[in-house]
Amino acid sequence: MTAFLEWNAEYELGVPAMDSDHRDLMEMCNHFLFLVQNHTPAAQLSDCLDRLILRTRAHFQAEERMLDRHGYPALAVHKSEHERLIRDAENLSAAIRHGNDDKSLEDIVAETSDFLRSWLLEHIRQNDRPYKPFLRSLS
Ligand SMILES: [Fe+2]
Ligand SMILES: [Fe+2]
Repeated sequence: MTAFLEWNAEYELGVPAMDSDHRDLMEMCNHFLFLVQNHTPAAQLSDCLDRLILRTRAHFQAEERMLDRHGYPALAVHKSEHERLIRDAENLSAAIRHGNDDKSLEDIVAETSDFLRSWLLEHIRQNDRPYKPFLRSLS
């Protein structure tokens, strides 16, 4: 039974461009989970993950530019969190594509599914949400 991600009002930051990016990324996570559920071959799973990583990089850059423009004080920490997420996702994609000596493909795919269920939504909740009151305080 695959648990798909569901959008929830608590993820809404009130910054339309960021909210719509977050929704798109969540849909892409769900697409990966859907492919897993349908026993899609590893190469296609890895392709799907790489597209998600590419789209995520674009979102992170846009978000960092916006925060930088407004002088967000916690930007450095936020940036390093973005880098960590991308690195983790890239490692998982490489493990799916090329295999891993210690783990079966099934385990890696399960690990990636768990990762995708939490990475984006946890990041929005813990790291993105604090910039909401900050941006609000400026207006
Ligand atoms: Fe972020
Ligand atoms: Fe974000």
